[in-house]
Amino acid sequence: MSAQDSTEGIVIAIDGPSGSGKSSTSRGVAKARELRYLDTGAMYRALTWWMLSNGVNVNDADAVTALVDTPVITMGTDPDAPSVAVDGRDVAAEIRGRDVTANVSAVSAVPAARERLVRTQREIIAAARAESAGIVVEGRDITTVVAPDAPVKLFLTASPEARAQRRSREVRGDVATTQADLARRDELDSNRAHSPLRQTEDATELDTSGLTLDEVVALVVKLADEARDR
Ligand code: DC
Repeated sequence: MSAQDSTEGIVIAIDGPSGSGKSSTSRGVAKARELRYLDTGAMYRALTWWMLSNGVNVNDADAVTALVDTPVITMGTDPDAPSVAVDGRDVAAEIRGRDVTANVSAVSAVPAARERLVRTQREIIAAARAESAGIVVEGRDITTVVAPDAPVKLFLTASPEARAQRRSREVRGDVATTQADLARRDELDSNRAHSPLRQTEDATELDTSGLTLDEVVALVVKLADEARDR
């Protein structure tokens, strides 16, 4: 099955560190072209929330591995109202909490957790491609592992200062603490053994530091339209 089969929807794969503008860009592009939207970071957060809620020591990889298949994680892919549920419970607010944020890198470093979520992500992508014009998928390993054949692959970056400014507004925290937290998570996400965050040669790098959201969305929409016309 080719990623560019004209009877199937397009896949736009977007990777990058926290605060690079991935989520806003991905949702904006999905809305502009009536595509579905998948936030894979929310899936790692949902799994982490479930582990913490069930008293699992997330630093014990064997304990995490034994339970990765237990929670049912359901993702809503409407870019106007994306949703995430665990065993039927809406956890959109919970997964943004401090506890989950502090522990999600540990869970996402466990190979079995990644295998389980990558499988689910590919199922969601296949369903979206069959049923709609396509899907925008954002995360850390979308261009490298989840959808390496996607016709549009982007790696979003931004300066540490710009990323911390954006994230601190989202979490209503102070900029210095947020910048330190981002640096710590970058370090963990980029240096883990399994599917680390890395840029591939065929992904287009887009530095969003000096651009408005509308400008970034317009650039990505142009790339998507070009890919569709090819
Ligand atoms: O994008 P985010 O901050 O919500 O992601 C939360 C964490 O999940 C992040 O620290 C790295 C991890 N993650 C991952 O390992 N692979 C993905 N495809 C998406 C997120």
